[in-house]
Amino acid sequence: MSWLVTVVCAVVVIWILKKYWSDLRKRYFAALMNYLSQDEDAKMLEMKKEVFATLGSEVSHDPQLRKENAIKILEIGVGTGVNFEFYPDGTRLVVVDPNPHFKAYYDNNRKKFPNIHSEEFIITTAENMDMVPDSSIDVVVTTHVFCSVHNTKKMLQQILRVLAPGGKFYFYEHIKEFDTERHSTRQKIQDFLTTTGIWQFLFDGCELTRDMLEDIQEAGFTKVQALRFYCPMEHFIFQLVKPSLKGVAQK
Ligand SMILES: C[S@@+](CC[C@H](N)C(=O)[O-])C[C@H]1O[C@@H](n2cnc3c(N)ncnc32)[C@H](O)[C@@H]1O
Repeated sequence: MSWLVTVVCAVVVIWILKKYWSDLRKRYFAALMNYLSQDEDAKMLEMKKEVFATLGSEVSHDPQLRKENAIKILEIGVGTGVNFEFYPDGTRLVVVDPNPHFKAYYDNNRKKFPNIHSEEFIITTAENMDMVPDSSIDVVVTTHVFCSVHNTKKMLQQILRVLAPGGKFYFYEHIKEFDTERHSTRQKIQDFLTTTGIWQFLFDGCELTRDMLEDIQEAGFTKVQALRFYCPMEHFIFQLVKPSLKGVAQK
């Protein structure tokens, strides 16, 4: 009789896991990202300030926003909202993220930035953000998002679609090791964690071995300025995501 109870219990546990696993993973990842974003180090903040330094001189395609000296930004894969502090006063912000469990953290963070007008949190992927109108956005932003997107070419086409003519795409992404002679150990660990799927399992599909520069260069932007560099992250857990790409592409 006890074997029957064991089998029934096992079936119930498997059923519960199957039904709620994906949601549990998304909840865990949102909580993890919130925890990791609590104390960004000073060098990291300086570096990000540099990435976004020219945002303040962008001019809106929208005459009304131009009068107000404001711009409209779309941030893709916004997560908990770690980039508010880099956005110019008066920014109209629309954000996209497929993980609904980020919204509570995002709402909490946005309250600290009354100078930014957060207009919409759209729960969808970058590949499927058809609800964002064509040519309606002055600046698109992504930070640490390409690593998790299934179809990055489709995402780039969507970015080009929503940007107004002359609009800019600002990006800062972690990429695969690019100096494989000096940092062969990092390259090997990145390869191991990606081919075994361990990193993707821990970080909701994130892959360590991507480099999106070529895709961005070939997507159809009129100008692309980009730089591969090592991000100044101190904590040991971040050593694998130090190789980075930052830049601005113009429609
Ligand atoms: C590593 S987190 C980075 C969050 C935030 N941008 C940051 O810099 O802290 C990756 C984010 O990309 C989102 N994401 C994953 N797949 C996506 C997709 N296909 N389209 C848009 N966002 C996606 C995740 O839900 C998550 O919020």
